[in-house]
Amino acid sequence: MTKEQILKIYQEKFGNDTPEVYASPGRVNLIGEHTDYNGSFVFPGAIDKGMIAAIRLNGTDKVHAYAADLDESSEFGLTEGDLPKEGWAKYIFGVCREIIKRGGEVTGFDTVFAGDVPLGAGMSSSAALESTYAYALNDMLRLGIDKFELARVGQSTEHNYVGVKCGIMDQFASLFGKKGHLIRLDTKTMEYEYFPFNPQGYKLVLLDTVVKHELASSAYNKRRESCEHAAATIAKRHPEVKFLRDATMDMLKEVKGEISEEDYMRAEYVIEETQRVRDVSDALERGDYKTVGKKMYETHHGMSKLYEVSCEELDFLNDVAKEHGVTGSRVMGGGFGGCTINLVKDELYDSFITDAKRKYNEKYGHLPKVYDVVISDGARKL
Ligand code: GLA
Repeated sequence: MTKEQILKIYQEKFGNDTPEVYASPGRVNLIGEHTDYNGSFVFPGAIDKGMIAAIRLNGTDKVHAYAADLDESSEFGLTEGDLPKEGWAKYIFGVCREIIKRGGEVTGFDTVFAGDVPLGAGMSSSAALESTYAYALNDMLRLGIDKFELARVGQSTEHNYVGVKCGIMDQFASLFGKKGHLIRLDTKTMEYEYFPFNPQGYKLVLLDTVVKHELASSAYNKRRESCEHAAATIAKRHPEVKFLRDATMDMLKEVKGEISEEDYMRAEYVIEETQRVRDVSDALERGDYKTVGKKMYETHHGMSKLYEVSCEELDFLNDVAKEHGVTGSRVMGGGFGGCTINLVKDELYDSFITDAKRKYNEKYGHLPKVYDVVISDGARKL
């Protein structure tokens, strides 16, 4: 939706045409999945799909919010007891609360928002929503909160008001995204580096299974617990290990008899994935996309067999990519449905997409959605 369109809806809803307009994107992630709550690396980029919001301070202590895509309204106050019942409004409320907890004085506002990040597709529509409001309120109320802390505001919103114990990747990417660049982030130190990403002769494309399996957030939280338990067990012998990122396979093997088989598999995946992100960084420096692709397939395998966050539909699309000779393919984001991210040679692109659509439709009775990835800028005022 454009600025003009959201302003028009705002005018219809609130009879005023002078709100500010802000936007924040969703994200893709080249590699480094389920590593961000293990102190390890991620490799995301912001995309050309996101959330857009028109906002105007209303001089009261109430928020009036309208979700244009859903045609739903919500009104809520700003104290802890005012949690709204609409799922989408919890994100806006959570952002306000997390800013207030950090000493920011948030006042009421009237707002309309809309978005084009597909929901539940693993492209971080929720982080886009959080980042839009965190960025906007910080700017409009001149709170002076830095962008790292704004990312934490979004992350804490997920932890405390949505119930997902997520890492920092999605909110970070939404706020720090830069056109044409992927960002390698070290989630332990929060050091980051922009990598120009313009692979000559290749395209990045997402294939959306259009399935989202139930209980994704409790399964996500369970993965996190497994990792923390494995890291804590290793730390008894190796106190320098704070996160799985600090552990080696040898250290993990030492505690094999002390943790469950499941926790062992989860930790093994994370330790291997940490190494894969390092390998991909090196490969990108050399322009070696063959290696990048190979690592993507390895990640898929790990996410499917060790971390167990893939599903039948994602494995199917991954197999189709492999059979078709696609350079790299894997499940992207938290998993349990959503998209595969595919690194495809230009000359294979058309036949791969046609083949994947046909085969998927034959098997599951509906088409996957296809999104070409355009790496774009992060949160901004329009
Ligand atoms: C979700 C979370 C992120 C990250 C990914 C998996 O998108 O919000 O913090 O853990 O899953 O890499």
